[in-house]
Amino acid sequence: MIIKSATFIASNTRSDKLPPPVIPEYAFIGRSNVGKSSLINMLTDRKGLAKTSQTPGKTQLINHFLINENWYLVDLPGYGYAKISKSKREEWEKFIRYYLRHRESLQCVMVLVDSRLEPQKADLDFCCWLGENSIPFVVVYTKTDKQSRVKTDQRAAAFRKAMLQYFEEMPQQFITSSEAREGRDTLLAFIDETNKG
Ligand code: GTP
Ligand code: MG
Repeated sequence: MIIKSATFIASNTRSDKLPPPVIPEYAFIGRSNVGKSSLINMLTDRKGLAKTSQTPGKTQLINHFLINENWYLVDLPGYGYAKISKSKREEWEKFIRYYLRHRESLQCVMVLVDSRLEPQKADLDFCCWLGENSIPFVVVYTKTDKQSRVKTDQRAAAFRKAMLQYFEEMPQQFITSSEAREGRDTLLAFIDETNKG
């Protein structure tokens, strides 16, 4: 897929203010600081489209970006960020979960997982919740430039093994690095193929 246009549409904290669900959308989520915004900028080739930061918890809104006038890319707030108050965190989680369960135009959730870490409970719990709610998702490993390919493969294998305790099949997986622009073509091709718009 060639990205001809990428336009910021809206930031929302409430589900009832979201753009009408009339075109297919792909939502990006993962633990805080996993590299969601960087991946979005890499995929769209627009450096400042999604705001990146070294401070976890930067993205606190549902951000809609319109790509090629025919699909929405959605940047969601990260989960598992400890430094905000519990009540605030629960409020977001409720909102995000509501969005994920009820958004009829949602094609697939891209769950970003830091390729450098052992399987994290927060990621496994979140994937299980998606599975329980029959929400389609894939796993996207991030920041692979920070280590050797062998290490990335080991981590991916460990995550897959952990997932297979809960799932009969491992969902599709993608290896990416925003820094090295790895995985861009494969991920965009996946979106192209599954986009039913
Ligand atoms: P929140 O919105 O705060 O939850 O974070 P996020 O998931 O959007 O992460 P963001 O893209 O802001 O990146 C967090 C930090 O990781 C930044 O310092 C990025 O520069 C760095 N980073 C993200 N992706 C990569 C990558 O592929 N390689 C390297 N080396 N660093 C990365
Ligand atoms: Mg972000």
